Amino acid sequence: MSDNVIIFDTTLRDGEQALAASLSVREKLQIALALERLGVDVMEAGFPVSSPGDFESVRTIAENVKNSVVCGLSRAVAKDIDACGEALKVAERFRIHTFISTSTVHVESKLRRSFEDVLQMGVNAVKHAKKYTDDVEFSCEDAGRTPLDNLCRMVEAAIDAGATTVNIPDTVGYTIPSEFGGIITDLYNRVPNIDKAVISVHCHNDLGLAVANSISAVQAGARQIECTINGIGERAGNCSLEEVAMILNTRKDLTGVGTNINTQEIYKTSRLVSQLCNMPVQSNKAIVGANAFSHSSGIHQDGVLKNKSTYEIITPESIGKAENNLNMTSRSGRHVIKHRMSELGYTEADFNLDELYDSFLKLADRKGQVFDYDLEALLYFNQQQEEEQYYKLSYLNSVAGSAKVATAGITMTIGENEVEGAANGNGPVDAAYRAILNAVDLPIEIVDYKLGTKTGGEDAQGHANIIATYKGQRYHGFGLSTDIVEASAAALIHVLNLTHRADQVAEKKQAKNNK
Ligand code: KIV
Ligand code: ZN
Repeated sequence: MSDNVIIFDTTLRDGEQALAASLSVREKLQIALALERLGVDVMEAGFPVSSPGDFESVRTIAENVKNSVVCGLSRAVAKDIDACGEALKVAERFRIHTFISTSTVHVESKLRRSFEDVLQMGVNAVKHAKKYTDDVEFSCEDAGRTPLDNLCRMVEAAIDAGATTVNIPDTVGYTIPSEFGGIITDLYNRVPNIDKAVISVHCHNDLGLAVANSISAVQAGARQIECTINGIGERAGNCSLEEVAMILNTRKDLTGVGTNINTQEIYKTSRLVSQLCNMPVQSNKAIVGANAFSHSSGIHQDGVLKNKSTYEIITPESIGKAENNLNMTSRSGRHVIKHRMSELGYTEADFNLDELYDSFLKLADRKGQVFDYDLEALLYFNQQQEEEQYYKLSYLNSVAGSAKVATAGITMTIGENEVEGAANGNGPVDAAYRAILNAVDLPIEIVDYKLGTKTGGEDAQGHANIIATYKGQRYHGFGLSTDIVEASAAALIHVLNLTHRADQVAEKKQAKNNK
């Protein structure tokens, strides 16, 4: 049996499907390239049949990622598998992942079929996927609650049909480690052809056991773990990639297996996913939480000062989290910013130093000291601005006061045209939003608005995150400024540009269908 565990990342599929708003194609590609640098063996890029946007994302990722296998998800039906084959065919190496539920409650209540039907559908799906690639993964959805006899029959039949990986998901996070490891042991003991496929696990975190269950399965012989960055995913999330990678790295003495993950990329990838997915990481989260390496009690601090290993089993450096001894202010030169970005794990290909330095200076002038998270936020914001801006805000003036109705006036360009708008509102942000939405006249509804900062203090940068709906889809907009009305307006302009790109993708697809 291999002494490496295959890391199958599903941030862009299971993780993304749980977000309040879909990621854009560009954001998904940005995450995919970060996952490739992180060294994931396989990345599940999406569910191509589910929407034109998802199809386009999977195709774009398949075109650009070279060092990881790119995978697409499909139900056990021919049209889903065909969509995967079509979206993935441009990839250097790709996998089709097809699944069907096998637990009694899913078979009877969700699928309303017999287990025999399901078995046959699974076999047909694997055979159909084999027409596109040798690399076919089959999943028994809700395997954790599937009667063992049925599970053994399904696994054996899927391998006979040609599945090269068989995945055992604990879809509802119901099992406990000894039980889940026991299921894998039973499969090894009872399925005669099991040595012909890699056994994979995919654990959800409903009882907080996704990581523990995955490690227990590896100890029982599983050799692929499906996981997501920061553990994002349906409900309580999926198994967290950074945790399993660091467990296998730190406790190889016990598990005897390693991974191909470049742990130095963990922190940076976690920050990127958190930022683009608008999913903050809790401070006490293992490995990547803000407090994961902070020692608070006097006794602990005393111990660490004498010998770090008294209270530290892994170092921040091992996940690419660098200490900062630099005071970054408007007096800092370009080389300081370049140096700090490289300490934070970014290469020159990741950012445009001229633009970053320019926005750094503007921020430093307004704010005084600039911190790492300010630099990273500027980087993401500048990257967002580099995309084609069909909608641009060129002027914004909003006036508010305790005794006055707030008013806002805006000028913006929509494509080639300049338009103006004005509105009253319930506060300056509301007035600015009304003015912009009056000018564009689109059926956009803001369903969530959050304004936050990373530090206290009146000079902190405002981070505006909004969720808006348009034509039944949700979009996440992000804006950044020391002026909260400007940050809020930028978040809405971001949403407008995302809806424009989504309309373009849908129009392209429609034109293709009409041909
Ligand atoms: O949780 C699950 O069962 C899944 C399958 C599609 C693998 O996400
Ligand atoms: Zn899942």
